[in-house]
Amino acid sequence: MKITCNAGGLTLKNPTILAAGVLGTTGASLKRVASMGAGAVVTKSIGTEPKLGHHNPSMIRLEEGYINAMGLPNPSYGEFRQELEIAKEAGVPVIASIFGATPEEFTTVANGLPGADAYELNVSCPHAKGYGMQCGTDPELVKAITKAVKATVKVPVWVKLTPNVTDIKPIGLAAQEGGADAVVAINTLKAMAIDINTGWPILGNRSGGLSGPAVKPVAVKCVYDLYETLDIPVIGVGGVSNWADAIEFMMAGACAVEIGSAVYEDIGTFASVSMGISDYLDRKNMQLKDIIGMAHRRVKQ
Ligand SMILES: Cc1cc2nc3c(=O)[nH]c(=O)nc-3n(C[C@H](O)[C@H](O)[C@H](O)COP(=O)(O)O)c2cc1C
Repeated sequence: MKITCNAGGLTLKNPTILAAGVLGTTGASLKRVASMGAGAVVTKSIGTEPKLGHHNPSMIRLEEGYINAMGLPNPSYGEFRQELEIAKEAGVPVIASIFGATPEEFTTVANGLPGADAYELNVSCPHAKGYGMQCGTDPELVKAITKAVKATVKVPVWVKLTPNVTDIKPIGLAAQEGGADAVVAINTLKAMAIDINTGWPILGNRSGGLSGPAVKPVAVKCVYDLYETLDIPVIGVGGVSNWADAIEFMMAGACAVEIGSAVYEDIGTFASVSMGISDYLDRKNMQLKDIIGMAHRRVKQ
């Protein structure tokens, strides 16, 4: 089919992927998302120990998206193993999102959660002390974590990057040097909202990460910069809610897109985005490979 694609070492029936942390805590819900048309699904980020996450409220809705500070709640790799097995019944690739504070913790989780079709390393969550972007803003640590997981597993390793840096390119290069099969850009942007009646920050954790339509232009620029700099594929994520958003990410250089916040509005997004991409390609008489990175080939006169 026209929209079958290769994304970071995996063959997908279409280029839409469920993003980490959204409807990804149980095997049953991952299967449901797959049945709604996703080309692949990413699990909630899983760590070494059970973690409750931050106090409520942990998510608020804004006009242009969401701010969340879940705090990486998860049951730990041992408890999640069975959910992964259930998710695999979905018949699409299942990517395990994993986190840790050190290369050793990452390899412990990867070893303890066998059977995933790929591993996505969360070095980008902006609201979990000691984890996520606290690792992912240090290129040496990103390289060491990637290298350690690559040496542990036999399937593709994707590294999910934070936009909360001055320049995302050196972090992408560090992932590439560590042996990553793809980078995923972006995780949420550091953000906060305050209740003006009380003066209190709204989220239990006071601040969190912004997602949804508001972050799309930031994500498109990150994908554009990474595509220009790296030799490995880039997977785009951040504010995709329709087929046109997906096409824009591909023109910036993404080989596939992950979708998170938009799933809260409509779980049918994967099917409508895939169909929209397919119709667009038909109208333009093009193939996916023609649009991936197209914006780089447009040189101003
Ligand atoms: C409620 C919520 C939970 C999330 N949890 C995770 C997570 O566990 N691991 C991770 O890497 N990203 C997590 N993310 C980030 C998303 O995967 C995605 O990178 C981000 O939301 C931007 O995409 P979107 O605008 O399509 O939501 C979470 C996002 C939301 C909204």
